[in-house]
Amino acid sequence: MLEIAFAKPALPSSGAVVLLATENAKPVGLWKQVDDATGGSVSRALEAASFSWSKGKTLTILAPGAGLSRVVAVGLGKADAITPLAAEEAGGHIAAAMGTVPAIAVCADVFAHKPALAAHLALGATLRAYRFDRYRTKEKAEDKPKLAKATVMLADHAKAKTEYAPMRAVAEGVFITRDLVSEPPNVLNPPEMANRIKKLSSLGLKISVFGPKEMEKFGFGCLLGVARGSAVEPRMVVMEWHGASGGDKGAEKGGAKGAKKSAGKPRPVAFIGKGVTFDTGGISIKPAGGMEDMKWDMAGAGTVVGLMAALAGRKAKVDAVGLVGLVENMPSGTAQRPGDVVTSASGQTVEVINTDAEGRLVLADVLWYCQHHYDPQFMVDLATLTGAIIISLGHEHAGLFSNDEDLAQKLTAAGRETGEKLWRMPLGDAYDRQIRSDIADMKNVGGRPGGSITAAQFIQRFVNGKPWAHLDIAGTAWATKDSACIPKGATAFGVRLLDRMVAEHFEG
Ligand code: BES
Ligand code: MN
Ligand code: ZN
Repeated sequence: MLEIAFAKPALPSSGAVVLLATENAKPVGLWKQVDDATGGSVSRALEAASFSWSKGKTLTILAPGAGLSRVVAVGLGKADAITPLAAEEAGGHIAAAMGTVPAIAVCADVFAHKPALAAHLALGATLRAYRFDRYRTKEKAEDKPKLAKATVMLADHAKAKTEYAPMRAVAEGVFITRDLVSEPPNVLNPPEMANRIKKLSSLGLKISVFGPKEMEKFGFGCLLGVARGSAVEPRMVVMEWHGASGGDKGAEKGGAKGAKKSAGKPRPVAFIGKGVTFDTGGISIKPAGGMEDMKWDMAGAGTVVGLMAALAGRKAKVDAVGLVGLVENMPSGTAQRPGDVVTSASGQTVEVINTDAEGRLVLADVLWYCQHHYDPQFMVDLATLTGAIIISLGHEHAGLFSNDEDLAQKLTAAGRETGEKLWRMPLGDAYDRQIRSDIADMKNVGGRPGGSITAAQFIQRFVNGKPWAHLDIAGTAWATKDSACIPKGATAFGVRLLDRMVAEHFEG
């Protein structure tokens, strides 16, 4: 992870310097010092390039003098429009422009009166500097990105440092998610993912892992039906963070009882993730083209894991529980067939019309378990659930489905603030009728029309009217091009959004 330091503004005698300013700003402070020290070559270069400091623009000036290797100008746009998100994006642009430089000094005088924005800038740079390179063995040293340390300079550096501490924990959570989602599917199968999650107990999370024997006892017929075709066993992993109740173990396993015992204590908030470590489609097998993308069909689960790590890492004052259903969806002689009828933990039966609609089957059992063991304030599930949501919303918004106006509003707002945008989709009885079955309580697909909505209707049948939201992240979990704070690949969409919602509404 990019090492961040905050310090008083001081003219460096070597290395790379970043100048940050808003449109039409005049050289002041450290910017002026750099310009004077280089005999005005910085202002001449800015002039020659007609650099206007508009948002997202960068200009690199090589060897300007005064011993500096480069000066990079980064535009912030209009002064009154610098939101935390805009500061993060500026940080991301800095990291991108500095690929081959080992250390940078960032002149952040412009945030003199808003030191929190300097912390957001550091977060953005950190998020962009991420790279998953575990499996590159032949890359030449000179081709590797080198940025390792950024010193952000502003008068109130102490305040910026304090603000950054929890953000760093969130960035660590984001990286845990990105690492999990990036791993190839031969490495990251359900038992391996469960093992990696277990290691997070070092953060103070209480982790429980369940295998097929326990799932059999819980009556997880839907999840086990998906797992049947695979040579590797499924897992459910439950992560508890007791940040509001501290050492009190009231909400432990068998927590419905626990919740009653400790009256007056807030009930936990709950996050549930789809963790299909590879989705071939099963017997309803997918076409070959692009099937490798289905390694990231566990992104919902990966996001829940990173979120729980973030909450624990920044010692959030909340009781939270994260549950992930981990399975591999494979075709084989033992795989479930189209036409099979399975019985969920809720007792409801499901006719499996299409074995490729497996995510909803996994979520159905895990959601049921969650409400019975934890009686949470609300449940938010995350899943790369449908290709149809990509048709509806592209890669700009994740689909939000909810039976609770207040929860939907809080999620939407947190999404806007973190840049992990959500768009509310409808639910309704007419859609629900599409998943009626002639032989069982429901079928697992509702036909082509409204495919993301009928998937959500299916899940809603397992939440018992409790406050719930479903985020369909099929279009946002993986990026095919770089953006300000997200290098292409696993995005960890949802970690920052849900962390923000918890911070704003469910702590203290
Ligand atoms: N994992 C897929 C959805 C998906 C598609 C995620 C593309 C990311 C990118 C899911 O399990 C699936 O296969 N859904 C089917 C449902 C259909 C059979 C009703 C789909 O979207 O085609
Ligand atoms: Mn599928
Ligand atoms: Zn899937």
